Amino acid sequence: MKFFIDTANIDQIREAQELGVLDGVTTNPSLMAKEGITGRNNILKHYVDICNIVEGDVSAEVIGTTFDQMVREGEELADLHEQIVVKVPMIRDGVKALRYFSEKGIRTNCTLVFSAGQALVAAKAGASYVSPFIGRLDDISTDGLNLIAEIREIYDNYEFETEILAASIRHTMHIIACAKLGADVMTGPLSSIEGLLKHPLTDIGLEKFLEDYRKGNS
Ligand code: E4P
Repeated sequence: MKFFIDTANIDQIREAQELGVLDGVTTNPSLMAKEGITGRNNILKHYVDICNIVEGDVSAEVIGTTFDQMVREGEELADLHEQIVVKVPMIRDGVKALRYFSEKGIRTNCTLVFSAGQALVAAKAGASYVSPFIGRLDDISTDGLNLIAEIREIYDNYEFETEILAASIRHTMHIIACAKLGADVMTGPLSSIEGLLKHPLTDIGLEKFLEDYRKGNS
């Protein structure tokens, strides 16, 4: 399973990269705004800065909602850096744009996916990644994890190469559940990844080992 961090915060991206288990970054317009990154040039520069920190894929989202706007923006984003993956919303013109980018060899991440039908269309349009938002489904009392299971089954049935990128991860147990269900990638906050490291018995065990060492070596 690949680990992506879902943020535009440079410090957190650097921290995750230094941990040594990071495979990429996802951003979205809300995450960019949260960091105060505004204005086209600043936004483009920020994507390049992120690419220079991590080794893997960096999803950069288009703002346009028509086919022409998405193609223009997506080509500009893809030209920024070879690690850029163009993030395209699951709307009618977005599907056309996915097909266009796929034929041009530009990698894509189809975002805002909330149903198996949407994921099926994204794969048929040639998306490199599909992003089902499991946390937001959970928020409305719908089983987000079940969507991951449905997409896995459908993609396996037809051997689609589109990778399932479990998005809107809210906590560590989401990651474990998505891994069990066969999601190819997870994207979540740094805290959800760091949560994987923690166990109270590890802390208690280490404290005892060090205490015993100190006793024998004082
Ligand atoms: C995916 O790429 C999105 O950026 C993200 O996972 C959305 O998560 P949220 O529901 O926590 O905003």
